[in-house]
This record gives sequence, C-alpha cells and structure tokens, in this order.
Amino acid sequence: MDLRVRPTQALKGEIIPPGDKSISHRAAIFAALADGLSEVTGFLEADDCRSTLRCLEGLGVEVERCGEGTLKIRGQGPEGLREPEDVLDAGNSGTTMRLLMGVLAGQPFYSVLTGDRSLRRRPMARVADPLRQMGAQIWGREGGNLAPLSIKGGGLRPIDYSLPVASAQVKSAILLAGLAAEGETVVREPVPARDHSERLLEFCGVRIKKEDWKISLWGRQRLRPFQIRIPGDFSAAAFFLVAACVHPRAEIVVRNVGLNTTRTGLLTVLTDMGAEIRVYPEGTSAGEPYGVVSARSSNLRGTKIGGPLIPRLIDEIPVLAVAAAVAEGQTVIQDAAELKVKESDRIATLAMELRKMGARIETLPDGMILEGGTLHGAVVDSHGDHRLAMALVVAGLIAEGETVVRGAECMAVSYPGFMSDLEALLK
Ligand code: S3P
Repeated sequence: MDLRVRPTQALKGEIIPPGDKSISHRAAIFAALADGLSEVTGFLEADDCRSTLRCLEGLGVEVERCGEGTLKIRGQGPEGLREPEDVLDAGNSGTTMRLLMGVLAGQPFYSVLTGDRSLRRRPMARVADPLRQMGAQIWGREGGNLAPLSIKGGGLRPIDYSLPVASAQVKSAILLAGLAAEGETVVREPVPARDHSERLLEFCGVRIKKEDWKISLWGRQRLRPFQIRIPGDFSAAAFFLVAACVHPRAEIVVRNVGLNTTRTGLLTVLTDMGAEIRVYPEGTSAGEPYGVVSARSSNLRGTKIGGPLIPRLIDEIPVLAVAAAVAEGQTVIQDAAELKVKESDRIATLAMELRKMGARIETLPDGMILEGGTLHGAVVDSHGDHRLAMALVVAGLIAEGETVVRGAECMAVSYPGFMSDLEALLK
C-alpha cells in the first residue's frame, strides 16, 4: 500500500496510544502458563500480538476474545501445554519467537516455530545457545540460528548465563526456561534491557531476585493467574512526541502511556536536544508505571548517544533519526549494532530512505552520524519494517512537498490505528 503524506499546518490534540506491545506478549504467555483464568485489558490488537495468541492456541491454550483489547486466557500450568499439530507461525514477531523458544525448551514435546521472511532472517542462536546449554534440543538452518526451528525440550538444568548482547528477548527466554528447570537460573546483562518480564513474573507471584545487571529465579515456581490493565506503548507514543517536537506548530498530549525507565530513553535524549517535553507520572499498573507526556514545537539541537542509553531507546531510533535530520548541528548514534538485526537492517534502511528525502547521513558499523538540515518529499519504502514506515510518515509531515511511503501496510504489525490517530491531530 502506498501512503501519501503532505506537510500539515499544525499538529494539535490528544493521543491515547495502543497497549504496550512488549507487555501484551508477556501477559498472554505468562497467563498461558499460570494456574487458572487471567484477564487482560489494554492488550495490543496488532499483528505481532495476534501471532503470540495464535501460537498459544496452537499449544492448546484457551483464549477468549471479549472485545477490543480484552482477553480471558485459561492457563493450566506449564504442563497444560500440548504438542502442536502444526507449525507455529510467529509472523513478523521476534518477541513471539524468542519467548516461545524459552517456553518450548521446557516442554517434553516436539514443536516447530517459523515466521515471515524478515523473521526467518533474524538471529536465533542467541536464544538457542543458552537453551541448549540448559538441555533443550534445537535444530534450524545455519546450525540452529535461523527459523524454521524445531525444538524438543524438557529435562532442563539451570544455568548461570552472561548475555553477550543486551536483549530483553534473550533474557526473557532464559528466565522462562529457568522456570522449568530444577534449581537457580541466573542471567547477567551487559547493560540492562527492558525489564517487563521480571515485573510481570513478580506480579504473578514468582520470587525473582533483581540485583544490578543480574537476575535470578528458582525453577518450578507456579504462576498465579492475574488481572492486568496494560498501559499504552511508549514506542507507539514516540512517533507523536517526535512529530510534536519537529513540527513548527504543534502541541500533543499523550495519555496513559507506559513510563518504565528501561523504555523511555527517548525522553532523556529529546530533553538533551532542547525539546519542550513534560512528563506527569500518574501511577502503576501491574508493576508498570504510566502517566501523561506532553510535547510541543521545539528548537532541537544535535546530540551524541551511545552506551547504556541504547537499549532504553533502541526501537525509537528510526523516529529519533528523523528528529536528528532536522535538528541544528550533528547527531552521533553509536553502540547500536543491534539495529542491523531488527525487522530490517535499520542502519542501512534508515540511511537509504532518509537520504531520498535530502537527509545527510553517514552510516557507521554500530550507528550513524546525521547532519541536521531540511527534508523534502520523496517516494520512500518501508522495507516491510513497521517502525521505519511510521518514522517516514513523521518525516513526511515536515518535508517540503509530497512524500509517498510504499509498503505502509506493515504499520499493522504494531500500530494498526496509527494513521487514524495521526489524522485526528492534523489541523
Ligand atoms: C523487545 C525487546 C527488544 C526490542 C523489541 C521488543 C521485547 O529486542 O527491540 O522490539 O519485547 O522484549 P531485543 O530483546 O532483541 O533487544
């Protein structure tokens, strides 16, 4: 689908972002493992999270859909899962595949996991290696690095594992497998990544020890069923926050958005760039803080980002690059080699597409250098990457002339209502 975007006079109003994607996946998976009926509201109704539900149903889990964003999931403990009759399809969703690898490693049966073209190219050895060390058998292309993957689990032993890359998906997979092992599993992080799994496991009554950059839990603990209201996705809100900052006549208020600090690195960076952003914390839901964030037209300056900040804003780099492309001066993004193995190689695809709009970008092996300037409309491509598609729409709002975003349908992976939410702000 081609999407035409024109610069808008003004950008004003309120947004309630859709439910958090990372928490939605985890809520569904943990509910499936719990002992009884869980109720989820604010579940993200998007392709990625539907992939998780479909896979869980393939494993024999009962999921009742009770209207927009509301689900009832009947868990029967980990031993309630059944050998799937068919291949489990994670679609475009890395979180679905990697977290389920952790679950399936603890199951005595045989299962096969696959995904779309993008997901079948993404590295899975980072999960398969530690799970094999715990005793799971995993096969796949490239020695088990690429899906389709076959898994025969069960009989796991605990592990003390230092993650080679900061990854919440790998951390979560090991913790899920650790729940099936007898004894204490320890995961050490090079840099803290998002901690939704730890928070939700605690919410389910699992005792989990969180020290600096080290998480441990004892296996064979039961998960209590739960009721959860999932806050809005900060990564979805990020497109509007950046749009407000870069647009000359904008003021946007985002309500009910998750404010977990392992996710909100973008706020730190935008503030550092001179953005007029305000944060109003309101409370916590299932251990996750949420609140209101407002942003308005700002004079942004370039900045330098790297180190421990990167995992806290890794998914926001596509839209942050748009901000950097129109900020005053230079922005340097480093320590972000993980961008290369996201839904697309985001270092390459961002540079390729933003250059078509006049941005000056130099790519680095682990990031990019952007020189601020102005953007002009162009025909650009999403490369099937939802966050790239939405970042390009934001660029189109401030570019001179018309921008056409090709392959924009992939926005449905994380945010099917993105365009209608945006249209409500256009003045
Ligand atoms: C996610 C973790 C991150 C992130 C992804 C969602 C999660 O990936 O980029 O969009 O829900 O755990 P990594 O775990 O590979 O860092």
